[in-house]
Amino acid sequence: MREYQEKAVLEEDITEIIKAGQFAPTNRNNQAIEFIVVRDQQTKEKIFEIVGQEFVKEAPVLIIPVSDTTQTKCPVQDLSVASENMFLQATALGLGTVWKALKMEDAEEEEDKIRKLLEIPEQYMVINIIPVGYPKEKPIPHTDKDFKAKKIHHEKW
Ligand SMILES: Cc1cc2nc3c(=O)[nH]c(=O)nc-3n(C[C@H](O)[C@H](O)[C@H](O)COP(=O)(O)O)c2cc1C
Repeated sequence: MREYQEKAVLEEDITEIIKAGQFAPTNRNNQAIEFIVVRDQQTKEKIFEIVGQEFVKEAPVLIIPVSDTTQTKCPVQDLSVASENMFLQATALGLGTVWKALKMEDAEEEEDKIRKLLEIPEQYMVINIIPVGYPKEKPIPHTDKDFKAKKIHHEKW
């Protein structure tokens, strides 16, 4: 979802979403992910200036999951799995989200700026931002029409 209502999101719903992220599997059960929750409008606007896309300043809440790279060899995988869990939990609560990536060509520079802005210690990796809000429109779910059976290879390619 990329358009959100102004309606406030309950702190307990944010906690449930983070719980789903924290309970996600991590390599060797490193549990090295921490979460920054941003509600402050000025901070959201500063994040928007770094990463772009209007919904970053419009969503009521931004969650930034970060992984301690001194504790895991798989920070990207750990963060991705946790993020997907968070998307599913948010959807189950009637909330909308989307994966907001750091721009591939400037990812390191953007990551540094986000770390500085949010005072995240240097060893934590940031790969994405998760906006959370009540969606303006009901998402259209995928159907069997979108399913590409051709992409399945049985036994061999
Ligand atoms: C690794 C990754 C990066 C993405 N980055 C962005 C992004 O920066 N901005 C955005 O609006 N959507 C982003 N998306 C969302 C995809 O564009 C979206 O999943 C795709 O368009 C399919 O839509 P659906 O998820 O509704 O099926 C990203 C998704 C993934 C998995």
